[in-house]
Amino acid sequence: MNRAPNRLSKLRARLAEVEETLRAICTGEVDTVLVPGKQGPQVFTLKGAEHAYRVLIESMNEGALTLTTNGLVLYANQCFARMVKRPLEQVLGSSFHDLLSAADQAALRPLLKRTAKSGSKIQALLHGGGGAQVPAHLSIRPLARNGAKSATFGIVVTDMTEARRNEEMLRTLTHRVVQAQEAERRLVALELHDNITQHLCAIAARWAALANKLPVREKASRGEVMKLSEMLGQTVEEVQRIARNLRPSVLDEMGLVPALRATCTEFAQRTGVSLKLACKPLTARLPAEAELALYRILQKALENVGKHARARHVRVHLTKQGDMVQLTIKDDGIGFDPDQPPARRKKKRDFGLLRMRERATYVGGALIVKSAPRAGTEIVARIPLPPDATAVT
Ligand SMILES: Nc1ncnc2c1ncn2[C@@H]1O[C@H](COP(=O)(O)OP(=O)(O)OP(=O)(O)O)[C@@H](O)[C@H]1O
Ligand SMILES: [Mg+2]
Repeated sequence: MNRAPNRLSKLRARLAEVEETLRAICTGEVDTVLVPGKQGPQVFTLKGAEHAYRVLIESMNEGALTLTTNGLVLYANQCFARMVKRPLEQVLGSSFHDLLSAADQAALRPLLKRTAKSGSKIQALLHGGGGAQVPAHLSIRPLARNGAKSATFGIVVTDMTEARRNEEMLRTLTHRVVQAQEAERRLVALELHDNITQHLCAIAARWAALANKLPVREKASRGEVMKLSEMLGQTVEEVQRIARNLRPSVLDEMGLVPALRATCTEFAQRTGVSLKLACKPLTARLPAEAELALYRILQKALENVGKHARARHVRVHLTKQGDMVQLTIKDDGIGFDPDQPPARRKKKRDFGLLRMRERATYVGGALIVKSAPRAGTEIVARIPLPPDATAVT
């Protein structure tokens, strides 16, 4: 008679155990269930075996998504929802394309159609909730779906906001360093011109006067004094050349084309390399920073020709291509492989090309280096014209 309450409490205990197991399965705490059978316990692996991976993906600092080929979001982690400032429920089942500009959609579409196994990477700007714009790096991989007809893609989304901010800061810093350097150069050029050159000229004049005072019979001494006077004259010229390179007054006073012409003439005379310059005449001045950038790029490029190229001919072209002004410096020298990292030398590091690129970049342009061993080198600097200037005709 008193067995019934006993069985009832046993049943209750088993029910509680089953409920607890179900709860654990639902929350993903259980991967595998062992069920006793006639031939020993049977192992059932639950779908929740992916639990460990889910935890990993949910705790990642990157957004993670799976998409259909049409860009429908099948899965997204919380980090992605936070990144685009939308509730996760809103993201799931929505179209990933809705977060992209038309240009980014066009770039993504072919990558989601591609049947190739290898992944692809693109940069895109995600338009999130509340007008948020998130620069992002998308790493896209096709996912194997055992026997499923429609392919899916996994995307890892990295928020690049911080990286972009750092890049911007670095650019600003570089810009300031270059500006400070230019100001310093201008000062040194002035000092050289106003002080050193003046002193040297005064010394040369007094020296010449002294030479004239020497008696005619002191032939050897007169000859020596004249030679020294000549050397002083050459030193004055050299100091003036250095001052011009530091800050060409012709660039400030007469503009880009005369400054390019003066640099080319000086290079050809000094090195003996034949140089042809073709400049379309400018109808308006470019912004001072753009002129200075192009001038410095020419200087550095010619420095490289003199130092490395062993060229016989150089061509320098200034043209207008649409709304861009383009400066090309092409030599027929030994060339080099631009993709190869420059060989580190003991005392020096190669900064010339890097600085040329920076100069072009911070006036909104770009620098292209085309070269190959034994095939010469072509440096192309493209800088946008200000909207109201049709500077080169
Ligand atoms: N016109 C050229 N012809 C042949 N090789 C070149 C030419 N321009 C550059 N190079 C090669 O590219 C390398 C990098 O050039 P870059 O101007 O950056 O550095 P650098 O001239 O060696 O040093 P720096 O300019 O800092 O004084 C050079 O060392 C050289 O090997
Ligand atoms: Mg160089």
